Amino acid sequence: MLSSTQKAQFETQGFLVLKRFKSAGQIEDLRQRANELVEAFDPESTRSVFTTNDQVRLIDRYFLDSANQIRCFFEEAAFTVDGRLGQSKHLSINKIGHAMHDLDPVFDRFSRGPELAAVAADLGLIAPQLWQSMYIFKQPGIGGEVGWHQDATFFHSDPISVTTFWFALEDATEENGCLWVQPGGHRGPLRERFERVGDQISMRKLDATPWPDQSTALPLPVAAGTLVCFHGLLPHYSAPNRSDRSRHAYTLHATCGSSRYASSNWIQRDAKGPPLRGFD
Ligand code: FE2
Repeated sequence: MLSSTQKAQFETQGFLVLKRFKSAGQIEDLRQRANELVEAFDPESTRSVFTTNDQVRLIDRYFLDSANQIRCFFEEAAFTVDGRLGQSKHLSINKIGHAMHDLDPVFDRFSRGPELAAVAADLGLIAPQLWQSMYIFKQPGIGGEVGWHQDATFFHSDPISVTTFWFALEDATEENGCLWVQPGGHRGPLRERFERVGDQISMRKLDATPWPDQSTALPLPVAAGTLVCFHGLLPHYSAPNRSDRSRHAYTLHATCGSSRYASSNWIQRDAKGPPLRGFD
């Protein structure tokens, strides 16, 4: 599936951009299903918002239980000062997470198949295990920033093996909050670990290496249908969306079944949840 040049680029740069990986029809199916999930969501059921900039303060039962369920989270800026939604429900949701790939047939179909399995294998994933899915809306005007981080912070394993699959469901531009990466930054250390003990979550600092600045950060504007794969240690972020256009994306996180998945990671699977599967 991948050429030797593409494999070499992933190794040296820590990311790979695959254009036209998903068709317009596949994207439309996923968007429509996400729309149905939001339609069915009762906004009075939670005030849970999501931001990676202040994870710990916002951890609650609704979030913890979403590890193996399908739940909607609000944009942090979705509410007015009097606590009401400042726009329609459909334009207020930050993301849906975190187990649609195992619980919803439409998401399952989008998240698996021979093409994805081949890419994962070519990137070095052995017996991949899909832990998480997220449908990210990056809403017009209020889409929140996702600060610099490494995904291995949330999916630690020994050795580190987590790989991210990021699908653009709309054109992502610098204006509507595309991904930014630090090319080659995956060769740096893991800076933080997001750890769960019981219902307590903490962010543990491991390394003081600073996050990249604008001099080494590279924007990745991509067209709808593009798949961006990146290494779990690659620093990345996305800016707020202050434009009038949304930037929908869908992400999957997979580790090698041959690496030891940390028992302190917030997402775990047990007999009560759906079975852990790969891309097949
Ligand atoms: Fe990330």
